[in-house]
Amino acid sequence: ADALKIGVAGLGTVGASLVRIVQERQEMLATTCGRAIEIVAVAARDRNRDRGVDLSKAAWHEDAIALALEADIDVFVELMGGAGDPAYASVKAALNRGIHVVTANKALLSAHGIELAGIAEERGALLNYEAAVAGGIPVIKALRESMTGNTISRVYGIMNGTCNYILTQMEKEGLSFGDCLKEAQRLGYAEADPAFDIEGNDTAHKLSILTSLAFGTAIAADDIYLEGITNISIEDIHAAADLGYRIKLLGVAQRTESGIEQRVHPTMVPYDSVIAQVDGVTNAVAIESDILGELLMVGPGAGGNATASAVLGDIADIAKSRPGAQHVPAFGRPATALLPYKRARMR
Ligand code: NDP
Ligand code: HSE
Repeated sequence: ADALKIGVAGLGTVGASLVRIVQERQEMLATTCGRAIEIVAVAARDRNRDRGVDLSKAAWHEDAIALALEADIDVFVELMGGAGDPAYASVKAALNRGIHVVTANKALLSAHGIELAGIAEERGALLNYEAAVAGGIPVIKALRESMTGNTISRVYGIMNGTCNYILTQMEKEGLSFGDCLKEAQRLGYAEADPAFDIEGNDTAHKLSILTSLAFGTAIAADDIYLEGITNISIEDIHAAADLGYRIKLLGVAQRTESGIEQRVHPTMVPYDSVIAQVDGVTNAVAIESDILGELLMVGPGAGGNATASAVLGDIADIAKSRPGAQHVPAFGRPATALLPYKRARMR
């Protein structure tokens, strides 16, 4: 089979890891995917930045939208971030050409996911975004594919590695909030603007995507009760510990009799629960359903390699898909068949 031609827009923490892994594992990928995977075009802002990877065989684009509009590619991989342009316009341009898209961008999907899913379905393209929620944990695949047929009652968990890293380091190493945040940034866990992490918006973006997948509804990110970790002090952490609890930033979405409830806030969880023992950049997502029961997935939630692993899995799925085959809809059911979102009555 012909090689799968990839264009990558964004060569930062995740993009550079992806390029390195694809280059290092060419033979393995060609075998597992049944065809070679080649990165033929790339885009970023600064051409002169050393990214520690060989880009000599890929055409360089300063304009990600031009790459999406014009390059001879089978898959457009968006790893720039942000809900606005160039991420939005470039993903839309690629899908409108019928080109498959892989993205790790939860801000984009939270704002425009259903519109983009609609274009993908109209144009016969795949929109894959496993890395957008909980880094390397395959939670999108679980909800979108493996759990089809289940009625889901609740999805919750630790969905932001930066916040969990900060809370863990404050408690275990006695470091200040500010120093922990700087270290999370250095390790490549934080968003370009870390306010999205610590104020809870990133968890809300992810939760809004999971809510749509779990309950088959339109995305309603604005309906999420939102509180981040900026007011959590070491004294709060110690006081919770004295009572037998640890503080975790949780995202929770549940079905109630009156509608759907979505919230993101620091939560005291009993010390002996699995979630309480999830430390550092690790994430955990629990899904409660009627057929499967309770599924709990724990794993790396951020960082270049963990995220690139999920992006690569999405690319591999496309490489293995057959031309003309029925595609899995981006949000589990066709975008036109999503139910209206109904918020729960406030208690
Ligand atoms: P970085 O900030 O490290 O990298 C962003 C990349 O995008 C850079 O290469 C930058 O170029 C490029 N870029 C930014 N703006 C433009 C533009 N206008 N035109 C062209 N290129 C542009 O981000 P990450 O790699 O950390 O994150 C990428 C995406 O993955 C985001 O959506 C993020 O939310 C998501 N994500 C990140 C995770 C992580 O652990 N880091 C985990 C899960 C998801 P240049 O290098 O030249 O400045
Ligand atoms: N900034 C995000 C986090 C990246 O810390 O979880 C992974 O989505």
